[in-house]
Order: sequence, then C-alpha cells, then structure tokens
Amino acid sequence: MNIILLGPPGAGKGTQAQRLVERHGMRQLSTGDMLRAAVKAETPVGLQAKAVMERGELVSDEIVSALIGEELDAMGADVGAIFDGYPRTEAQAGSLDSILAARGRSLDHVIELAVDEDALVERITGRYTCASCGKGYHDTFEQPRVPGTCDKCGSTEFKRRPDDNEETVRTRMAEYRAKTAPILPGYEARGLVSRVDGMADMDDVTAAIERLIAD
Ligand code: AP5
Ligand code: MG
Repeated sequence: MNIILLGPPGAGKGTQAQRLVERHGMRQLSTGDMLRAAVKAETPVGLQAKAVMERGELVSDEIVSALIGEELDAMGADVGAIFDGYPRTEAQAGSLDSILAARGRSLDHVIELAVDEDALVERITGRYTCASCGKGYHDTFEQPRVPGTCDKCGSTEFKRRPDDNEETVRTRMAEYRAKTAPILPGYEARGLVSRVDGMADMDDVTAAIERLIAD
C-alpha cells in the first residue's frame, strides 16, 4: 500500500505516520526528516537546504524527489510506503507518479488532514522529540509517561526544531496554501482523496485513518 498524508505544518502527518509504522510495519518517508538528517550530517544537500528550511520555504523539487527515489530503492518491494510531507508541489506530484510507476507501485490513498490553522501554531510551538529515537511529544497534548524520560527508548535527551517558531510557522503555512493545497484537485479527480478531521483527538484521527485503509 502507498499512502500520502497531506496537510499543513502541524496537521499531524508525522504523528499518524509513526502510528501506521508501528501497527502495519509500513515505512514512513518524511522528506522533512530526510532533510534534517542531511543538515545534521552537513552533506551537500544539507548545506543547500539548511537556510531554506530555517526560513520556512520549500527546498527544490529535484532534491526532494531524488531523496524519495533513493529511500524507495532501499526498501523491500512489498513494504508499504507512507509519504509524509511529500509531494508538496505540482512538480513533485508528477515526479512521484513516475517514481512509483518505475518501481511497480501506485497510489492507494491520499489522506488530507483537515485542520484549523490558528490551532496549529500552538501545536507546533509546543512540539518536541526524543533526541535518541525521534518519538514525538507535545508540552500540552502528549507528554512522556515518566516526566523527562522517553516512553519508547528511555532516553532523557529531547530536542526542538529550529523552524518551530511562530514567524517561520506562518511562512510554512503560506507555502502550503500557495504551493501544496493546489495539488489536491488533481488527486480528487483520480478519486484518491479522503478527508479526515485532523482537529479530532489523536486516537480518533488514527481510528479514522485505520477505517479508510481497511476498505
Ligand atoms: P516537514 O518536516 O515536512 O514539516 P511540516 O510539513 O511543516 O510539518 P510538521 O512536521 O511541522 O507537522 P506534522 O504534520 O508532521 O505534525 P506533527 O505530527 O509533528 O518539513 C520541514 C521543512 O522541510 C519544510 O518547511 C521545507 O523547508 C522542507 N521540506 C520538507 N519536505 C519538503 C518537500 N517535499 N519539498 C520541499 N521542501 C520540503 O504534529 C505536530 C504537533 O501536534 C506534535 O507535537 C503532536 O504531538 C501534536 N498533535 C498531532 N496530532 C494532534 C491532535 N490530533 N491533537 C492534538 N495534538 C496533536
Ligand atoms: Mg512532520
């Protein structure tokens, strides 16, 4: 199965992708995570992407599509893919079709997480992750069971993203509205889009996605 999770910054793409990975053994393909890893490792791609990401703008289509192709090649043909944060432009949507077709894959679902933008700023500015395993948390909505200790791996180190400040979040949202939302009608015309209420409780969002992919 190949699924796109689509929605603005903070809609819950990463949160829901992690849950699908745990439940179904699928693979999360997050271009944001790949780019952050490249920035950290100071690779040529990372050096190019760093300032663009800090401004909240989009990295070039060629870079992200190449990353997606490489990740797909590194995974088993029978492993399902969850695209998180990709595609984000018309050009990326076109590339994804070719990338999938070349590997004998095709899209099963495009799941739109519908959200209220104002609430997203709170979600994003309160977000942090385990520095060791990457599990996501939130100051208000999802704290570790034992304060200061990761539920999943026991690490006591956590980190926040440099682009998770209000000003950059506003730019990221504007980029979403201008460049990413316009790819939805094309997928709608192909009958691939399902809309899920991303403002619902996290577990309810997961349940709605589970129902969709079970059909
Ligand atoms: P990327 O990493 O993809 O960031 P994003 O799209 O801005 O989305 P986020 O990761 O911020 O949000 P999310 O939807 O994953 O929400 P989450 O689950 O964490 O991209 C970062 C940058 O990289 C871009 O700005 C761009 O520069 C570059 N980039 C990446 N991909 C690119 C591409 N394809 N092309 C070009 N450039 C690219 O949830 C947020 C918080 O809310 C969490 O704390 C969570 O616990 C909480 N939460 C989640 N769901 C709920 C709920 N239902 N109720 C309450 N709280 C919730
Ligand atoms: Mg994310």
